[in-house]
Amino acid sequence: MHFAASIQVGESVQEPLKYYINNVSNTLNLLSAMEKNEVKNLIYSSTAAVYGMPETMPVAESAPLEPINPYGASKVMIEKVLADIAAVRDFKYVALRYFNVAGADSQVRIGQAYRDATHLITRALKTAHGEFAKLFVYGTDYPTPDGTCIRDYIHVDDIADAHIKALGYLLDTQKTNIMNCGYGHGFSVREVIATARKVTGIDFPVEETDRRAGDSPRLVADSTKLRQITGWQPRYDDLEFIIKTAWDWELKLRQTLKNRTPGQ
Ligand SMILES: NC(=O)c1ccc[n+]([C@@H]2O[C@H](COP(=O)([O-])OP(=O)(O)OC[C@H]3O[C@@H](n4cnc5c(N)ncnc54)[C@H](O)[C@@H]3O)[C@@H](O)[C@H]2O)c1
Repeated sequence: MHFAASIQVGESVQEPLKYYINNVSNTLNLLSAMEKNEVKNLIYSSTAAVYGMPETMPVAESAPLEPINPYGASKVMIEKVLADIAAVRDFKYVALRYFNVAGADSQVRIGQAYRDATHLITRALKTAHGEFAKLFVYGTDYPTPDGTCIRDYIHVDDIADAHIKALGYLLDTQKTNIMNCGYGHGFSVREVIATARKVTGIDFPVEETDRRAGDSPRLVADSTKLRQITGWQPRYDDLEFIIKTAWDWELKLRQTLKNRTPGQ
């Protein structure tokens, strides 16, 4: 399973080479090492960003691949490389196109631990904690009901389960496939903020600002294929629960850091 990548859409617009070197070049090195060592199966972390601004929503895997930022383009390039290798070698893969992964382990054992996380939910919760002075909303004039971008937030445990199911499918059938991972409905930035305020009980400051380069107005998954082919069933399709697990994780992380003695 190949997860490693540079993943920030906005940064990819500013630093395209970083994204092509890390996500394309370095993945080519990995694929080359796999070929040399006769590793014949791969689960690849792809993304909804491969679709750009899809015309039909929810978006299915058959939709045109028209990324609007270098991050999405880097993932499309590797999907193409994988298809070309699979066409001529004894090599099979499943590319999982994740939508917006969020939340922490439902038993609060693991979660995101780095400071400069840019994901909306993590950022909102860190703002609620006072780690950031305010949360920025990038763009309020998108063609969506409340003007902010809509995303399909999927709980990290459901993404993990999709990988286990996809691996079972790959090993059992030795067939290549590409599957979306999402719930099939989305929430706007404003809806996420309202839910984060409700879960935390903190009315954290928010500032509306200009659009960020490279953001698609609405990305919602059609995950029929993943469900039908692998038997995947989401367990945590509940925004409030997703945010609650992320909040519990933030509280635990804070406590752990507080209890740490210097040098640990
Ligand atoms: N989080 C999401 O919402 C989301 C959505 C779609 C796709 N994805 C994909 O899922 C994968 C995992 O993303 P994530 O959300 O866990 O991001 P993340 O930034 O938390 O994890 C990526 C990890 O890869 C590591 N990494 C990057 N380049 C590396 C390299 N050259 N060598 C070794 N390690 C390297 C980073 O240090 C980081 O730990 C990525 O491929 C990303 O494109 C994530």
